Amino acid sequence: MKTIGVLTSGGDAPGMNACIRAVVRTSLSHGWNVFGVRHGYAGLITGEGAILSSREVSGIIQQGGTILGSARCPEFKTQDGLQKALRKLHQHQIEALVVIGGNGSQAGALALARMGFPVVGVASTIDNDLVGSDITIGVDSALNIALEAIDRLKVTASSHQRAFLVEVMGRDSGYLALMAGIAGGAELISIPEIETTPEDVAQALRASYEHGKAHAIAVVAEGARYNAEALVAYFRDHQERLGFDLRATTLGHVQRGGSPTAYDRLLATRLGAGAVAALVREEHGVLVGMVHGRVQTTPLADIVGKLKPIDPELFALAQVLDR
Ligand code: ADP
Ligand code: F6P
Repeated sequence: MKTIGVLTSGGDAPGMNACIRAVVRTSLSHGWNVFGVRHGYAGLITGEGAILSSREVSGIIQQGGTILGSARCPEFKTQDGLQKALRKLHQHQIEALVVIGGNGSQAGALALARMGFPVVGVASTIDNDLVGSDITIGVDSALNIALEAIDRLKVTASSHQRAFLVEVMGRDSGYLALMAGIAGGAELISIPEIETTPEDVAQALRASYEHGKAHAIAVVAEGARYNAEALVAYFRDHQERLGFDLRATTLGHVQRGGSPTAYDRLLATRLGAGAVAALVREEHGVLVGMVHGRVQTTPLADIVGKLKPIDPELFALAQVLDR
């Protein structure tokens, strides 16, 4: 019987558990065992983990986070770390590996693949910045959590005629901010890909009141040049001239901790099954993602190190809707 490994790496994302479950159960249907590696690449280097039975992945489809644990592991970026991981894989007689994670994790998967080890990646990050998948595991859940917060802030903002700023995750990508801003009816959206100055923010928030609105909400990505901290400091320093202050809420890791939505459970299940299907076809060194509504594979070498661009039409639409 063949044994394959599965690990979750980088930022956890709601739906990772549903993906692990799908990998385990579809593997078992092919007569393969699955070794669940603990704590991402850190556990791969130390050889931490165990074989997962079908019962061990029962009742996890609705849980956020990852039962395997995740990690950021600088050692895996070194030749020494990679060699140690390969030794542990051979020791445990693991013949192929499924890596569930984001951009960095897939760079790690490619590094292993380049050393001749059969690897398949699964697109999973709340940032939705991976090329090779239109949408990644966790995005829908994170977006819904952000939206709930924005909706609540809008209520209190309207009661007090106050300007609010919400910072959402997105180290390098403005996807979450853009989508949360559009769906939450924000007056301004600021993302890393397009520079927005503090004066642009002030102008948009002021315009909101001039248009007769009771609230003014700005949604800012954490990776934007002026994040929540910078904007609050600017507004404090220029309060007299600007005429109003700004209350900021940083959602941070709250967005990653929720239970996966129906969409994420289905996406994660399909991509997890797709990863095993790729291994059955002996297709390695690829990322499994959702492209035009279908589970598809793309060579890791074609996606690693790239950032999915935001849709300029959506950004332009947001500018039209904020009046
Ligand atoms: P994410 O996968 O969510 O983008 P990170 O960027 O932190 O998260 O990457 C997760 C882990 O993947 C890193 O801690 C490291 O162990 C591994 N990794 C990232 N880049 C590389 C690389 N170039 N080579 C090997 N491993 C890498
Ligand atoms: O998962 C990616 C991400 O959500 C980024 O948007 C964010 O910068 C990062 O994780 C923060 O992760 P942590 O604080 O857990 O390292």
